[in-house]
Amino acid sequence: MESSQWWREGIIYQIYPRSFKDSNGDGLGDLPGIIEKLDYLLSLGVDALWLSPFYPTPDKDFGYDVSDHCAVDPRFGTLADFDRLVAEAHRRGLRILLDMVMNHTSDQHPWFQEARSSRTSPKRDWYIWRDRPNNWQAAFGGRTWTYDPQTGQYYLHLFTPAQPDVNWRNPAVRQAQLDVFRFWLERGVDGFRLDVFNAYFKHPDLPDNPPQFGLRGFDRQRHIYDMDQPEMMPLLNELRALLDSYPERYAVGETYLATLDKVVSYCGPDKLHAAFSFDFTSAALFYPWNPAWILKKILARERIFEAAGVWPTTVLSNHDLPRAASRYCRGEDDSQARIALTLLLTLRGTPFLYYGEEIGLRDLPLKRHEILDPPGQKYWPIYKGRDGCRGPMQWDDSPQAGFSQAQPWLKVHPDYPRRNVAAQESDPASLLNFTRRLIALRREYPALRRGAFVPLSAPAGVLAYLRRTEAQTVFVALNFSRREVRAPLPEGEWQTLLPEGASPAGALGPQQILLACKV
Ligand code: NOJ
Repeated sequence: MESSQWWREGIIYQIYPRSFKDSNGDGLGDLPGIIEKLDYLLSLGVDALWLSPFYPTPDKDFGYDVSDHCAVDPRFGTLADFDRLVAEAHRRGLRILLDMVMNHTSDQHPWFQEARSSRTSPKRDWYIWRDRPNNWQAAFGGRTWTYDPQTGQYYLHLFTPAQPDVNWRNPAVRQAQLDVFRFWLERGVDGFRLDVFNAYFKHPDLPDNPPQFGLRGFDRQRHIYDMDQPEMMPLLNELRALLDSYPERYAVGETYLATLDKVVSYCGPDKLHAAFSFDFTSAALFYPWNPAWILKKILARERIFEAAGVWPTTVLSNHDLPRAASRYCRGEDDSQARIALTLLLTLRGTPFLYYGEEIGLRDLPLKRHEILDPPGQKYWPIYKGRDGCRGPMQWDDSPQAGFSQAQPWLKVHPDYPRRNVAAQESDPASLLNFTRRLIALRREYPALRRGAFVPLSAPAGVLAYLRRTEAQTVFVALNFSRREVRAPLPEGEWQTLLPEGASPAGALGPQQILLACKV
């Protein structure tokens, strides 16, 4: 793999640090815990690790409310631990990507503390203050405006009141924010995931957003003035120039309220390398998890990304969504999780694997009093929040699943005595070994990494496609249905890659997967 292409062809593994591995017995995962597990990550075959925030935080949004962007929260370790993590990861050929939360800070951040101290504070304009609110709604409920009694004005926050939005229009803020990127680049990180980057700029006049039909207040308006402002483009150019002044750095943006056209507009040689489009994450939530719907989504993104010359990303799970295995599987049966993983690892685009996805980790079953996530607390039971997908990683069948010596910050899923890394390591038929095999195939077959996507017609319930380069063709068929169907292999001679040793011709069993290479 050419190294300048690593972010196109490699696999990125997302770690939610507080739930990955606790090394010091306080019930929270930490950076030394991640170091302990680097060999496991290497054995999976992933290329880069994206770390959700580990910066100092009052935890009003579990790390996405940052009170110091250039430090490590003592609960997660020290800067020395971070440097050791980078060195140990690099020694194994693994890259490290950081989560940059630059749309807002914590209200405990010294910048905001200073800004709210008086109307004449030199940092007052580092945030967005108004005498009267407009009609904007916050993503986590209620208005985007909170009244600050001490100075008699309202400040803007797209998320919780504990997360005031910074004023990117102020040149000093812009400078300070870019310095944060520089700080981590100098420490050797390989790139960034940008939290809600397309909301950095708001319309300077803060006009009311026009109404639209929707369920929650936030959905009942068109977000045309609170995000996606034209000033974003020159900033992305500047950020890209900064990244390009270091070798092989990468940035992927979390596009808020992503549409395909919007996503590609933010990517390119002088903008972001990639931005999330979340094409499949609403399957089984709002849309059916079936081949027809998925193919429609694939074709739409292929058309738009190809035309724009932008490389797609594929995400099925992350720290904001119910896990794919919980959305698509019945109980503990992993058949649909295998289909989901095959899709993730064989489509054209950079796969993002969320910790635990490789063992089919399920969402935690939580009662109302166990909910910690602010939007979950606010909207229960209509929306139960995101704690479910943030449960402790299940390493083995010892107490607390080998995650911690103490009671973890979120409880361990009750299926851990059977579903854990150690148990799956020793079972050749496990989801973990299936994932490893898929990743190994992706590494071995360039067509799976960079080949064109060619849809094939297939029996009902089956999604079939080729990944094709000039020199190689790989066939993929996913039988979503619980019936046996004919394998829709095109003419020619095929060698089966998965399941190993199976005959490529004939039938595709219920919920079975077939990968074959043309000989
Ligand atoms: C998007 C992040 O993915 C989410 O977890 C967070 O709550 C919001 N941005 C606010 O930072």
